[in-house]
Amino acid sequence: MTFQLSTWLKGSALILSLTVSSVASAAGGNVELESPRIDQSNEKSLQRGAKVFANYCMGCHSADYHRYGRLARDLGLTDEDVSENLIFTTDKDGAPTKIGSLMEITMTEDYARASFGVVPPNLALTARSRGVDWIYSYLKGFYLDPERGGVGVNNTVYPGAAMPHVLWDLQGWRKAIYEEVDGAKVITGFEQVTEGSLTPAEYDKTIADLTNFMAYLADPIKTTRHRIGTWVLAFLFVLLAISYFLKKEYWRDVT
Ligand code: HEC
Repeated sequence: MTFQLSTWLKGSALILSLTVSSVASAAGGNVELESPRIDQSNEKSLQRGAKVFANYCMGCHSADYHRYGRLARDLGLTDEDVSENLIFTTDKDGAPTKIGSLMEITMTEDYARASFGVVPPNLALTARSRGVDWIYSYLKGFYLDPERGGVGVNNTVYPGAAMPHVLWDLQGWRKAIYEEVDGAKVITGFEQVTEGSLTPAEYDKTIADLTNFMAYLADPIKTTRHRIGTWVLAFLFVLLAISYFLKKEYWRDVT
């Protein structure tokens, strides 16, 4: 019995540790995530992020829980601004996608599966499922990896990702610098192989805007909620003051 119990305990400990380690590796190759500056009330940042998203991401990823018209209203843009600068897709009949449409893409799932092995996920809610730090670090984490056929790149945050480094023209190509730590190959830094059109600081700012935009997509009413919350708190304070003086008035003759 004792033997069985200890075996059982060891077994469960093993299962537990396996689960923990698989969660850790699923969360990304043990790298420290960086935090971008996220400010959903910064319309200019959201507009810049939307532009990068429409230009660089919507070739493969949809965000079809969201409509373009809503985007225009929330980002302080006119319908024409959005139609002319942010919509690059067409509908089934070949006509430009309308402002009232969902942010869908033209690439079919079969084509995506044939090209990448997986269908690029809808990015409308990714800022919630992965978190903004993950997305920001992921977009910073691409490096050349000759061992990976096909995309030819790897990612520090999401090792083995099937996504190519689509922002390479902005960031330039980088290769990893490895060091042996306890017999394992660990990435300790990066070396710039070719220059991108942006400096590293500009690149960080661009992907921070993009991440900010994705945070907006995942929670479009956040700023409205904060504004209403402030008014509700202000109202409660006023009510508190009125109630306090009312209470004093009622009890004046009693005490
Ligand atoms: C050429 C097609 C392509 C383009 C363009 C592209 N991606 Fe991807 N992306 C993929 C594929 C394929 C995956 C799935 C990777 C995997 O699971 O291995 C992916 C995965 C992701 C993920 C991980 C989602 C998750 O929860 O697993 C994020 C985040 C992401 N892409 C962001 C972006 C952003 C931001 C852009 C624009 C700058 C972009 N992608 C442009 C193909 C693309």
